[in-house]
Amino acid sequence: MTVLRSWLFVPGDDERKMTKGRGGDADALLFDLEDAVADERQDMARALVADFLAANPDRSRQQLWVRINPLDSPLALPDLAAVMRGRPDGIILPKTYSAADVNRLGDYLSALEAREGIADGATKIVCVATETAASLLTFDSYLQNATKRLVGLTWGGEDLAAALGASDNRHPATRDYDEPYLLARTLTLATARAIDAQPVGCVFIDFRDSEGLERECLRDRRMGFIGKLAIHPGQVEIINRAFSPSAEEIAYARRVIDIFEQNPGLGTVGLDGKMLDMPHLKQARNVIALAEQFGSAN
Ligand code: COA
Ligand code: MG
Repeated sequence: MTVLRSWLFVPGDDERKMTKGRGGDADALLFDLEDAVADERQDMARALVADFLAANPDRSRQQLWVRINPLDSPLALPDLAAVMRGRPDGIILPKTYSAADVNRLGDYLSALEAREGIADGATKIVCVATETAASLLTFDSYLQNATKRLVGLTWGGEDLAAALGASDNRHPATRDYDEPYLLARTLTLATARAIDAQPVGCVFIDFRDSEGLERECLRDRRMGFIGKLAIHPGQVEIINRAFSPSAEEIAYARRVIDIFEQNPGLGTVGLDGKMLDMPHLKQARNVIALAEQFGSAN
């Protein structure tokens, strides 16, 4: 699966923003039919998104995804029925309780793909895995039998806070996430890695705070996340850059790989006075693989 760095949310009822997003550098646009759209504009938004998708069949430079309403709302099926006409690359599923929701969505997609003459399984899924209280207790369900359509997991702390009865989700002084949200983030990362899906970092809502966004991207990436959800076009370039390995990182990774290749049969080597073993070689290969994916390896 192609790894995507920047996933830009665009309100599904706002054609101006859709056009603006399409002209920008986000690796994927996420047309939102959920929270960004008021109930009375739902029908209009569905039609607009379906038309926009149909009018933009070339996805080679930028994928086009749709966030539908949660499966336990009466809006989800009409959302899907409307947008599948436009052949979205994937569906973002919010407020999941467990992998059963993802698999149910997969079944709905199979039916709609048949209706549209789309290959079975072509439409991918990313779920927002931490927006209900139950979701924190069901992560193992993804390891049992999640559909192959599930190519990414992401998380969110806002709906989770409401679900847990919280008055805030951050420490008042440091503004760092409180415990439940750190747990949510960690479980999302581990589960995504365990099933070979992309762990995608959550939205950073202060869209004028470029430095804060960059810090959070670098921390996400250090932990193992790849890419991040965005809500404003100004965030895209920062995210793309932060998730593309730098020239220094690539050079260092090459040296690590070289030294292991020059010493076949050795499990442990020294470089710049530091011990390196298999996990370091794996990390170096991760860096090179990412760089190749994003065309920054040369
Ligand atoms: N996608 C595409 N274009 C966007 C955009 C987005 N998410 N957010 C802003 N823009 C455009 C604006 O239309 C504006 O373009 P224009 O100058 O041609 O009119 C330009 O970028 C600058 O926008 P700005 O004035 O800085 O922001 P704003 O006050 O218009 O909008 C938000 C702020 C938060 C309402 C807007 O960024 C937004 O709608 N974000 C997505 C919200 C969403 O989908 N939430 C659900 C997921 S959490
Ligand atoms: Mg709504």
